[in-house]
Amino acid sequence: MTTNPNPAKRLWVGAAYYPEHWPESRWAEDIRLMKEAGFNVVRMAEFAWSTLEPSAGKFEFGWLDRAIDALAAAGIEVVLGTPTAAPPAWLMSQYPDSLALNEHGQRVQFGNRCHYCVTSPEFHQATRRIVAAMAGHFGPNPHVIGWQLDNEYNRVCTCDRCRGLFQQYLVGHYGTLDALNQAWSTAYWSQTYSAWEQIPIQIGGHNPGLMLEFKRFTTQNYVNFQRVQLDVLRPQLKPGDWVTHNFMGWFLGFDHYRMNEELDLASWDWYVGTGHHDYTTTGAVHDLTRGFKRQNFWVMETQPGSVNWSPVNNMLNKGEARLMAWHAISHGADAILYWQWRSALGGQEQYHGSLVDQSGQPRPFYYEAQALAKDMRTVSDLVADSAPVSATALLNDYDSRWSIQWQRHHRDFDYVAHFNHYYRPLAQANIATDVVSADASLDGYKLVIAPALLIMTEERARRLTAFVAGGGTLVLTLRTGMKDATNALLPVRQPGLLSDLAGVEVEEYYALNEPVPVAGKEVAGTSSQWAERLKVLDTEHIHILAHYGNCNGWLDGQPAITRHAYGKGQVYMIGAYLDTGGQAELMKIITTGAGIKPVLNAPAGVEVRQRVTPAGKIITLVTNHTREEQVLSLPSPVREHLGEKYLENLLKLEPYGVAVLTQAG
Ligand code: GAL
Repeated sequence: MTTNPNPAKRLWVGAAYYPEHWPESRWAEDIRLMKEAGFNVVRMAEFAWSTLEPSAGKFEFGWLDRAIDALAAAGIEVVLGTPTAAPPAWLMSQYPDSLALNEHGQRVQFGNRCHYCVTSPEFHQATRRIVAAMAGHFGPNPHVIGWQLDNEYNRVCTCDRCRGLFQQYLVGHYGTLDALNQAWSTAYWSQTYSAWEQIPIQIGGHNPGLMLEFKRFTTQNYVNFQRVQLDVLRPQLKPGDWVTHNFMGWFLGFDHYRMNEELDLASWDWYVGTGHHDYTTTGAVHDLTRGFKRQNFWVMETQPGSVNWSPVNNMLNKGEARLMAWHAISHGADAILYWQWRSALGGQEQYHGSLVDQSGQPRPFYYEAQALAKDMRTVSDLVADSAPVSATALLNDYDSRWSIQWQRHHRDFDYVAHFNHYYRPLAQANIATDVVSADASLDGYKLVIAPALLIMTEERARRLTAFVAGGGTLVLTLRTGMKDATNALLPVRQPGLLSDLAGVEVEEYYALNEPVPVAGKEVAGTSSQWAERLKVLDTEHIHILAHYGNCNGWLDGQPAITRHAYGKGQVYMIGAYLDTGGQAELMKIITTGAGIKPVLNAPAGVEVRQRVTPAGKIITLVTNHTREEQVLSLPSPVREHLGEKYLENLLKLEPYGVAVLTQAG
């Protein structure tokens, strides 16, 4: 269940603004254009450290006060970034050890960003000083509504201090070297450690146990770094202010659930890069971000048409970004901020898309953002107090994903692609899903899908078992339940602790160099990349949906997909990685069996999602992701709010069209 943390109960639209790039005499024109665009928020200062603190402890906040005042006078509120992603030259030359060491042992050069070592005490001290000063100064400002910590955390450092801290972390985690040696099977290749100081930092491929702990250690380092900032920021926040960080979707550098625990709001930066928007996969990233806190979220950055860093920086089609914005809102976004307002004349991102060009005039895209802002304002009161609802959840797990990415076993096996293999047919069938942590509560769901949940713990097994016993439908897939929390193989067959629940076990897994046939009465197709040979344990309660056909001899005639009746619920075990058509059929069987229905039947390429207010009012958002007109039949009359229309039984959507509906009457 998603909740809505939006204290202002408003939809937000705006941009990243860098007044420090421009003479102050220009600001009035920028702000006039923002006001004319209908913007109500800007994010500022996340890279402005050298302007805010030109030398140690000497703060220059007046310019930012004046920018905030001028924006406020135009009705535009401010999100402030703490500027720690861009530690200035004076700081790094004062503390050269605060520059991170890359995996080749070289110091990261000054001149880009995120060049810091996240554990550096001097860097922490400087962070505390600037954040405390900013918090004390800007925290009370009524026009500062929220804070973003740093910007897109991503750096990993390999310096000796980090290595020492990693060893200390391991002491805390394992207690004794015996326990560590045992958990990591260090007798293998004579890796046995007789002193903590011998343990290396992870560079490249390594012992799987060490690799997983290094990711957890990296997560902890960023949690600690956030705390340095939160400790001085929180006391200065006004009621309703929030703190976020702009995450990067499926970025794999740390456990995002841990990182979000101490934040108030999740947000992410959404870029298409080369090509065009694919709603059947970006929907998953919105849902992922919503699942970080199980609350609505912000799109803190998105491209105003084009970027500068992709192989081909093509422009989104006219109308595509507007559609993307509504698609995000339908998945629980409460804010859309374009990156950035105006192209800077210098710096690394000169060619990036923006709303205002180098000459200071609006680009053609500006007018699309303006139209979007107008529409968002029209329905803000209606939509902003609502959040998406879903009876289906997909489980996401960083430990399992890391483990699989390091040992793919088939070069093409990708955790996210496999995840999307389950997400996509649901999106295409207009079945709303949540994406939540594999350790989240499953209360309220009818259907839970756990793609490649490789790492299995007693607690996870207990929770999944209780979910099924209570009447839920659980879908387990290939690569499930193979390892424990230290990334060691469990000494049992897959799905390990879930075998009783699944009623089957995996006798063998096969990486496939060619597709193998899969056939059953209800579902048929081929499996690619991977196949698991299932052995039925509970013959009485198992239904076999499909067997493998003739292929490598080992799989011939063996069960590929099963369903097990357990308690009041049922468990699917899917050993095959089906082709698109087969997967769609299978997902239809699963959703129908679980009593999950689409919100509305819509033509291919049209998505329908609902947001519900605390009072139970349903807002239906329809997005046409095709470049053709589409027509939907409506079960009952509706009011369409963007065009102010009453619709009896048909909804016509123009190419890339959007509709916001409520029940008529
Ligand atoms: C983001 C970053 C922004 C800007 C943008 C360009 O990753 O947070 O500062 O660089 O990319 O696409």
